[in-house]
Amino acid sequence: MINGGAGVAFIGSGSAQLETALSNDMLSRVVDTSDEWISTRTGIRQRHVANGEESLASLAAQAAQRAISAANLTPGDIDLIVLATSTPDDLFGTACQVQAAIGATSAVAFDLTAACSGFVFGVVTAAQFIRTGTYQTVLVIGADLLSRWVDWQDRTTCVLFGDGAGAVVMQACDRDRLLGFEIHSDGSMNGCLNLAYTAAAAPLTDEISTQKGTFTAITMNGREVYRFAVSRVPEVLEKTLFHAGLAADDIDWLILHQANQRILDAVAKRLKLPNERLVSNMAKHGNTSAASIPIALDEWVRTGKVLPGQKIAMSGFGAGLTWGAALLEWGR
Ligand code: UT7
Repeated sequence: MINGGAGVAFIGSGSAQLETALSNDMLSRVVDTSDEWISTRTGIRQRHVANGEESLASLAAQAAQRAISAANLTPGDIDLIVLATSTPDDLFGTACQVQAAIGATSAVAFDLTAACSGFVFGVVTAAQFIRTGTYQTVLVIGADLLSRWVDWQDRTTCVLFGDGAGAVVMQACDRDRLLGFEIHSDGSMNGCLNLAYTAAAAPLTDEISTQKGTFTAITMNGREVYRFAVSRVPEVLEKTLFHAGLAADDIDWLILHQANQRILDAVAKRLKLPNERLVSNMAKHGNTSAASIPIALDEWVRTGKVLPGQKIAMSGFGAGLTWGAALLEWGR
């Protein structure tokens, strides 16, 4: 642990390359759907699914290693790993497996669960440790394998989700590049989107019954979540911009959780942001939950679209319900 400055910089990104792509046409042989329905209603054309060899930890580690290399650091430089995921390999947490896999021997590691908002919540959490001078260099990973938990016979959900992992390295610096953030929760709408544990009674003795249940496949009230997203996401972005003393026109790139192209377009329109500044890769990846924002960020950085000094507004939203936004300037 080294005491750093009060500011936060975003100095490297990475994402995992999954081998198996599942197209809409392939999916329409599994469940009653079509490429036409999926692409016009959501913008998704394919998604990736983890194969038998890949795990949440292995894909998160791959994304992490790439982000650390891009930041010109070594795993030994990392003080803290925050792994945002709702689909751990181990319910006790997967971050420590990632720490061991990449050899980040000085880092403390823990999981953070906030569904599709997880990466934004992770960035905000990491920033608190950096701003207080507790940690100097933090790796934030967003990784999810929702293919493990969808009901492949439920066409209202299974066509939406894909697997993936992305990461970013944040580091203490003199000038703060985290220009603003806001995070929110509304548990009264929890029932709109769940991957819930269902308990079954398991009698232990004559007097005591314990429970031995299981997690049931993802359920979602798509229309409610859609309505929530198109109202809350522009609102949280506008508030974050206001706190930072900036206007929507100051944003170079808008990276939203890749849930539905129609949601992305509606938010950009509300902010009066031209479509060229709206980042979308959902045609290729679908909705990868906590991974969607860091994967999109990494793709835009690696293809040279995001340049150092540019301003990025990101917003995650989803189960909880949770939502949030972070406004940052890219680079050292
Ligand atoms: O990551 C967390 C955040 N999640 C989200 O933000 C998701 C937000 N919600 C959505 O993106 C949209 O609500 C969906 C993409 C999930 C659904 O789109 P929609 O335009 O709201 O469709 P709908 O649920 O109103 O369904 C319209 C019709 C229904 O048929 P009827 O009742 O009109 O005959 C559905 O049964 O489309 C049918 N349908 C399908 N048809 C073919 C639903 N799913 C499918 C499908 N293929 N996969």
